[in-house]
Order: sequence, then C-alpha cells, then structure tokens
Amino acid sequence: MVIAVDGPAASGKGTIARALAERFGLPHLDTGALYRAVALEALRQGLDLADGAALGRAAAQLDSALLADPELRTAHVAEAASRVSAHPEVRDALLAFQRAFAGQPSGAVLDGRDIGTVIAPEAPVKLFVTASPEERARRRWRELGCPGGEAGLAEVEAGIRARDARDRDRAAAPLRMADDAILLDTTGLDKEAAVQRAVDLVVGRLNPAL
Ligand code: DC
Repeated sequence: MVIAVDGPAASGKGTIARALAERFGLPHLDTGALYRAVALEALRQGLDLADGAALGRAAAQLDSALLADPELRTAHVAEAASRVSAHPEVRDALLAFQRAFAGQPSGAVLDGRDIGTVIAPEAPVKLFVTASPEERARRRWRELGCPGGEAGLAEVEAGIRARDARDRDRAAAPLRMADDAILLDTTGLDKEAAVQRAVDLVVGRLNPAL
C-alpha cells in the first residue's frame, strides 16, 4: 500500500503522513527533507542557487547524515529548498531514491509536492492536504516561538505565500493536486482532528463499502 500525501508548506501534511505511517505500520519518507538537505549542502558549499548543473551534482552525492541536521528546519533553508527544487537536474537526481522507497514491498507513506503526480502516480490512496495561507502562516509562526509579534507573523505569511507561488509556478513537477487525489482542508482543524479525518479518508478509499 502506498499513500501519497502532497500539499503546500505548513498545511499539516508532514504530521498527517507520519501519523498515517504509524497507524498503518508503513515506512515514511519526508521528501521535503531531501530538498532541504540539498539546499543546506549548497549553502554550506556556497553554490549558486541558480546553477542547476552544480546543484544536481550536489543532490547526486547527498550525504544522508544531513537529513538529521537541525538546521534543515530553519526558514532560510526552507526558502533555499524551494529555489533548489525548481531545477530539473536536482529533481532527477532524487527521483530514483524516492521511487525505490515508494516501491518497497511493505508499501510506504511519502509526503511532498509531487508524490501523487510524479513519484508514485499509481498510489491507490492520494491525499492533497491544504489550509488557508493565513492559518498555515500562524501555525509556522507558533512553531517558531511567535517571533516579532504581528510584524513577525506578517513576515512568515509573506514567506509562505512566496514559497507557494514558486512551488506552484515552476515548470518541473509543480505542486498540483493529482486528478484522483482526495482534498483534505485542515483549516480550523486541530492536529488530532486532521489526523482522524485523514485516517477516515484512507480507510474509506481502501474500503469504499464502509
Ligand atoms: O515540505 P517542505 O516544506 O519540507 O519542502 C521544502 C521545499 O522542497 C518546498 O518548498 C518545495 C520542495 N519540495 C519539492 O519540490 N518536492 C517535494 N516532493 C518536496 C519538497
């Protein structure tokens, strides 16, 4: 069983994907972490974030230890990941690993932007998780410890909107809901309610008679 979970930044897709993996006993891959790791490596090496060929080489030689680096979760790495992930050379370098993860006999849960459209288009269950930009910004701002009051919140929202636009408008594997995905809007839902809704949707898709 492969479950594809896609959606924009801070939509709750990571939390939902982890919970689904636990609930159904499946391995989980946060594919955003791969792009963040390439971005972190690029920033450390001082690579030009517009140089697709150099970034593709860095992605092909990615050190998996970077995936545990706490710096991966910072706003500047998220922003750089969004830039780095627009290059087809980077996406190509990460494709085989993601497809192999999705193809393992146990099944898997993967979350990202293009899981249902590119990485695992044959997945029997696809969720597209979203929430309003205002709510996503507020969640991310709270996670960061509410820096800078209302002005800080506005800054986080501007960053999220810019990242949304870049992830949606790029030519290579843009963020897009697959035709056969189920939309889950988590606006107004707390974590527990969102996870419960996701579990119900997965069970409903696997057992349409229930
Ligand atoms: O999900 P995230 O915020 O950790 O992702 C960071 C960036 O990586 C995001 O802005 C776009 C990119 N990304 C992607 O292009 N494709 C994916 N499957 C996952 C992430």
